[in-house]
Amino acid sequence: MASSSLQLLLPPVVLLFLLIAPAADSLTCSSQKLTNNALYTTCLDLPALAASLHFSYDASNSSAAVAFVAAPSTGESGWVSWALNPTATGMLGSQALIAFRDAGAMTVKTYNVSSYASVEESPIAYETWDRTAEYNSADGTMRIYAKIKVSAADAAKLNQVWQVGSSVTNGVPDKHPMGQGNLQSKGTLDLVAGQSTSSGGGGSRTKKKNIHGILNAVSWGIMFPIGAMIARYVRTFPSADPAWFYLHVSCQFSAYVIGVAGWGTGMKLGSESKGIQYHGHRNIGIALFSLATVQIFALFLRPNKDHKYRFYWNFYHHGLGYTILVLGILNVFKGLHILQPDNKWKSAYIIFISALGGVAVLLELVTWIVVLKRRWSKPTKPYDGYNNGQERQQPLAI
Ligand SMILES: *[C@@H]1O[C@H](CO)[C@@H](O)[C@H](O)[C@H]1NC(C)=O
Ligand SMILES: *[C@@H]1O[C@H](CO)[C@@H](O)[C@H](O)[C@H]1NC(C)=O
Repeated sequence: MASSSLQLLLPPVVLLFLLIAPAADSLTCSSQKLTNNALYTTCLDLPALAASLHFSYDASNSSAAVAFVAAPSTGESGWVSWALNPTATGMLGSQALIAFRDAGAMTVKTYNVSSYASVEESPIAYETWDRTAEYNSADGTMRIYAKIKVSAADAAKLNQVWQVGSSVTNGVPDKHPMGQGNLQSKGTLDLVAGQSTSSGGGGSRTKKKNIHGILNAVSWGIMFPIGAMIARYVRTFPSADPAWFYLHVSCQFSAYVIGVAGWGTGMKLGSESKGIQYHGHRNIGIALFSLATVQIFALFLRPNKDHKYRFYWNFYHHGLGYTILVLGILNVFKGLHILQPDNKWKSAYIIFISALGGVAVLLELVTWIVVLKRRWSKPTKPYDGYNNGQERQQPLAI
């Protein structure tokens, strides 16, 4: 049994560990034909969102002609943005150019971004002119064209931020998705040497999030359900007694240890994230940690099998267990929604959890057949152990 539950566990664990591998961004500079292509001496493939920046820098008056290219996932109904940030490395404080279709025509507007929640058109700290935008239906990209003046002292070390969003409401770009690419789309830009780098923080934070996701998916999303199934179904077979008990306890205890590590990484990520809060995910995480801790301690308070309070203990232990099961799986999905890894990870988890559900339904049937047969074979002493969870001693009739 131990080896077969290990076999069940391994494929999803291996799958999840592959999450750490970075996704390759497609390179776009080489393939793009821009209006006025000749204007730009340099093109940089930016390290996230498959975006690129074409530019020429004019040292005589420290101004640059730029063309920013990126593709919103929703094509013409989305928006793209390119910004310089004179005060910080992220989105807050950035002086942004945002392009989208407004009243039928592509337009570029300027935004002094001072909130994570929404943006408001406003003047920006940089002088810009010749601002235009276009949508290229052939490749689904939007392009921002502009000229921008920067201070000569900063031209070699600017903080740039770029973004794509999927919708615009009443002429205001809506909040962008929170996928990995959307959170990594920042770095430094050297207009003089024609170079860009991605900022270090984004990558390591993404790695931390992936580790958090893996630990918790393995613990709450995979091991806890398997451990619960061991308790419910394996012990139907008297030959598995008391092995099922030790298997159940060791599975749930390892799940708890991994889960606590995952929970800790989650709390740390949450405390480091100043602007973005995922309240639902966080609260469910805290509830899970508390319930699981109570559940582990309940083991030491377990009354003897024949004790009159054992019925109530079982009732409480099972109730808590099912709550943890449901909340755990729910929070894995909430986490997947936040992390937005490639679709295949969500699909892999859905397939895994559905397969586990299918196995559970089958085993439930088998268990009922076994229990009913046992009842019929002992009419004078009806079996009462099933629903109140007492361990079975009688040999099986099948
Ligand atoms: C900088 O020089 C370019 C090219 O000579 C010119 O087109 C642009 O208007 C100048 N910009 C400023 C702010 O003077
Ligand atoms: C942008 O907004 C910040 C905060 O509201 C403000 O301090 C700053 O002066 C604004 N910058 C411009 C160019 O309007």
